Amino acid sequence: MKTILVTGGAGFIGSNFIKYILKKYNKYQIINLDLLTYAGHMENLQEVKKNENYRFIEGNICDRKMLDKIFENDIEFIINFAAESHVDRSIIDPAIFIETNVVGTQVLLDAAKKNKLEKFIQISTDEVYGALGPSGSFNEKCSLKPNNPYSASKASADMLVRSYYKTFNLPAIITRSSNNYGPYQNFEKLIPLLIRRALKNRELPIYGDGQQVRDWLYVEDHCKAIDKVLHAGQIGEIYNIGANNEKTNIYIAKKILDYLDKPSSLIKYVKDRPGHDKRYALNASKIKQELGWTASYSFEAGLKRTITWYLNNKQWCSIN
Ligand SMILES: NC(=O)c1ccc[n+]([C@@H]2O[C@H](COP(=O)([O-])OP(=O)(O)OC[C@H]3O[C@@H](n4cnc5c(N)ncnc54)[C@H](O)[C@@H]3O)[C@@H](O)[C@H]2O)c1
Repeated sequence: MKTILVTGGAGFIGSNFIKYILKKYNKYQIINLDLLTYAGHMENLQEVKKNENYRFIEGNICDRKMLDKIFENDIEFIINFAAESHVDRSIIDPAIFIETNVVGTQVLLDAAKKNKLEKFIQISTDEVYGALGPSGSFNEKCSLKPNNPYSASKASADMLVRSYYKTFNLPAIITRSSNNYGPYQNFEKLIPLLIRRALKNRELPIYGDGQQVRDWLYVEDHCKAIDKVLHAGQIGEIYNIGANNEKTNIYIAKKILDYLDKPSSLIKYVKDRPGHDKRYALNASKIKQELGWTASYSFEAGLKRTITWYLNNKQWCSIN
């Protein structure tokens, strides 16, 4: 039995990943280290809390002493999901983004380097590449040009991970996925926010002209990609993860209203946010060709599943 230390596993993607892995394999022990910030919820892990291969530790990735204690267990893999993840919050208060996303990653790397790890996987984002014009897409060789404090903190963490691989031979891999959506996502993020407001017949706020493009990835497809990287990813490499689902924000708002049979008059354009990137698009051919990953969900199929999940999980919605 090998042990995976998952950080930030009580959040959206981390909790989906833990459930995915425990369902698929019984050869892994998962330790979930999470600070339970506003974004972390024990309810996300209800279905695995009694699984004997799952253990939860409440704590901060910036806490060196605690990490040393955790490493008294044999740990073969680290997957670092822990982060402050909301761009809007990073504009209001960047400091915590530096603390968790940059310092936290460095503390974790230090703890990892003292131990004989098989892999350290840093969960990063396409936002580190900056914004695109109307055409083209980012591949792994593109330079990093982050435009907001969140993406700058994630890009900084990526640089640190690279440096620990180059300087200390830490067996690290970086994954950069596009925007995720799916079950258990916090209501501050675009898709759950729009679903919630539409269900309550409230206005759907859309920044600027709503023409910002994001490349959407259903969270289960992201979990499958991380699974591939865990088992076949090459040390020192970067893998983009995206599903070629470029959609404008206004298209998404209209689709959600359509599925829920609500009027488009609920859409309300609001003042754009500063530094708002116009378009992201990822070239994910490397993970497809080298690791054989492909996304299973079209955007429309994933969105329908997501809406159905929020409709069927009213109790979760009421406490989040
Ligand atoms: N959501 C997306 O669309 C997306 C896309 C690409 C990459 N990512 C990256 O994936 C990772 C997970 O994103 P998410 O959407 O699940 O985020 P989330 O905000 O839902 O969850 C973050 C989790 O990290 C925990 N956490 C925060 N600070 C911590 C600390 N100091 N120590 C330990 N735990 C801490 C929180 O309690 C929470 O459970 C992040 O690194 C994010 O940058 C997210």
